[in-house]
Amino acid sequence: VVTAAQAGAREWGAGATGSRLVTGSTALHADLERALAAFTGAPSALVFSSGYLANLTAVTALAAALSYPARGDTLVVSDARNHASLVDACRLARARLVVTPHRDVGAVERALAGRPERAALVVTESAFSVGGPLAPLRALHRVTRDHGGVLVIDEAHALGVAGPGGRGAAWEAGLAAEPDVVRTVTLSKALGAQGGAVVAADEVTGTLVDTGRGFIFDTALAPPSAAAALASLAVLSAQPGLAEAARANARRLAAIATDAGLDVIEPGAAVVGVTLGGAADAVNARLRCAEHGVLVGCFRPPSVPDGQSCLRLTARATLTAEDFAAATRALSVVGADIASVSGVGRN
Ligand SMILES: Cc1ncc(COP(=O)(O)O)c(C=O)c1O
Repeated sequence: VVTAAQAGAREWGAGATGSRLVTGSTALHADLERALAAFTGAPSALVFSSGYLANLTAVTALAAALSYPARGDTLVVSDARNHASLVDACRLARARLVVTPHRDVGAVERALAGRPERAALVVTESAFSVGGPLAPLRALHRVTRDHGGVLVIDEAHALGVAGPGGRGAAWEAGLAAEPDVVRTVTLSKALGAQGGAVVAADEVTGTLVDTGRGFIFDTALAPPSAAAALASLAVLSAQPGLAEAARANARRLAAIATDAGLDVIEPGAAVVGVTLGGAADAVNARLRCAEHGVLVGCFRPPSVPDGQSCLRLTARATLTAEDFAAATRALSVVGADIASVSGVGRN
């Protein structure tokens, strides 16, 4: 992957020189878009300079396009735990927004059924970024379709990990080629590169090329990042067992954390959420993990609601027995700390 990035820089430069519609499109961008579409089973893909921008652009441009020729005739329905980039996208969409409780399909259906707007966008992550559970994608798609909406699924934490060979949770749910499903991905997590993409029907990516401000007015993804992501997709295609290994390792980390008496969210991909409660507990837990050589994410408000601070453990396919031993030591100390603070024994 690194060698591909170096070759990409030598051939095309460190930067893309301009926006995609001016001078920024290279053969690498076209190759990456073809490879992403093929890998995720979507008809087409459009690459952005970040996953954040892919989300901003997909939601804002689709809300406007679905409403056309009227303005504001699209309802946007967003899961309460969606990533900040989706939250910002919904706010910028100039549409009425309903935020539904986490993974609550009934609430989504009620919002869709009761809307005065003609069109609707339902926005969710597939593998949630903080806690790591999967969204009920099939049920969400069914209610979205029944009510004439479009489902936007952010697969940032699913690409490369969830689904067969890492093709994503939407693929696994049988939604990869559905015309009313729009997926966004980041190239920065399992692919180890940088950038983002929308994978969807040709009509959708075409609309984003014509109207998506984050596509039209942003310098194209840097060629070394495009080359790196392309190489990562080749690795994933050649070694489909990597994704299953990452998921198995996530389940093993979850079991270790559970055995340590911690409150664990069942992982849907590589992320294992451990709910701790107070922000100070989460900061302390991260320090404890660092003392044992274990790097974890620590999520506090405003990333999560008050009282729901947590650790995010992230598995990779190549974790070793020593890595698991270190995780066991670190998490048992965290479990003991939490038990002593809360005054309850381990369960
Ligand atoms: C769920 C989710 N969506 C989008 C993003 C943004 O992607 P990027 O970092 O490529 O901008 C992230 C995190 O980085 C994320 O966790």
